[in-house]
Amino acid sequence: MTSSLTQVYPIIWQDNQVLLIDQTRLPKEYTRIEISRYEDMAHAIKTMIVRGAPAIGIAAAYGMYLGAREIPTVDPQEFLIQLETVADVLRRTRPTAVNLFWAIDEMLKTAQETKGSVEQIQQALLEKAKKIHAEDIETCKLIGDTGLNVLPKSPDKLNILTHCNTGSLATGGYGTALGVIRSAWREGRLERVYADETRPRLQGAKLTTWECVQDKIPVTLIADNMAAHCMKQGLIHAVIVGADRITANGDTANKIGTYSLALVAKAHHIPFFVAAPLSTVDFKLETGAEIPIEERDPTELYEVGNTRLCPTGVEFYNPAFDVTPAELISAIITEKGAVPPGELRSLK
Ligand code: MRU
Repeated sequence: MTSSLTQVYPIIWQDNQVLLIDQTRLPKEYTRIEISRYEDMAHAIKTMIVRGAPAIGIAAAYGMYLGAREIPTVDPQEFLIQLETVADVLRRTRPTAVNLFWAIDEMLKTAQETKGSVEQIQQALLEKAKKIHAEDIETCKLIGDTGLNVLPKSPDKLNILTHCNTGSLATGGYGTALGVIRSAWREGRLERVYADETRPRLQGAKLTTWECVQDKIPVTLIADNMAAHCMKQGLIHAVIVGADRITANGDTANKIGTYSLALVAKAHHIPFFVAAPLSTVDFKLETGAEIPIEERDPTELYEVGNTRLCPTGVEFYNPAFDVTPAELISAIITEKGAVPPGELRSLK
């Protein structure tokens, strides 16, 4: 055992409301905001106060309950109709992470299957949101421990490169790719994390390094375009990233920049792992070409603070995610085991 790990919970249910760590303010300020209305939850997801595929799913589940308790009817049929409107508002926040749609569907199913008064359905929805939340934390710990089995056996202590933020902040707690890294650290198998800064939102620079510092895990920040150079120098033994949506054939949508990382890892014969819960697998889609890719406001690209980086008259393209083809992925690490992408269907 190398050190004890701290626990960061980005989402807390307390006093009949949701408390979210405002991730747009980290690492400068650690603050929580209170959310008690579903439209505020939709806004928090859209503006990335809460972000990361599993965390978005949990937030949407609580958002469904918050919306459910605002519905002014005692008629269960009318209640279900109005709950669809709440679901639609939450669905329109971010298109790529399938956990959002998965969690909303789970909540709708709970509402439809609960026979009783509106009050009883609302209560069932709160219980379901809490269950999705608690299960995600347990799932992440399983992913972390499963990942230990597939990490390269040598050297004893690995340098692992990761992209974006996939830690406690991006999940109920513990993390997916960063969860594997946490487990490796706990077991004395980690030398150092190399964190890509992750332009344009800088989740690696701002959030992953923050989590590593909390846990006293050695971390080196690099700019995204330094990864190939670090690999060539022999500094990286494995790459582990998270996922926003994995299709049935193993193609994986994740934060923009993941695809190029997979290509350079392949060129340097470095294993490239994806760590994600099965709720991130969209078995309805065959290949990554079908995944909707979110495009975000170009100000993310051309503004740093209040400074504009380029002259006016420039056009912008700001896709938030890319798709890594299955053949570049060594294994997908889930709570039910780690498999090569081609065997993903066996975990369904
Ligand atoms: O835009 P973000 O910050 O929500 O994107 C997050 C990622 O791409 C993560 O890698 C992914 O959601 C997995 S989080 C465990």
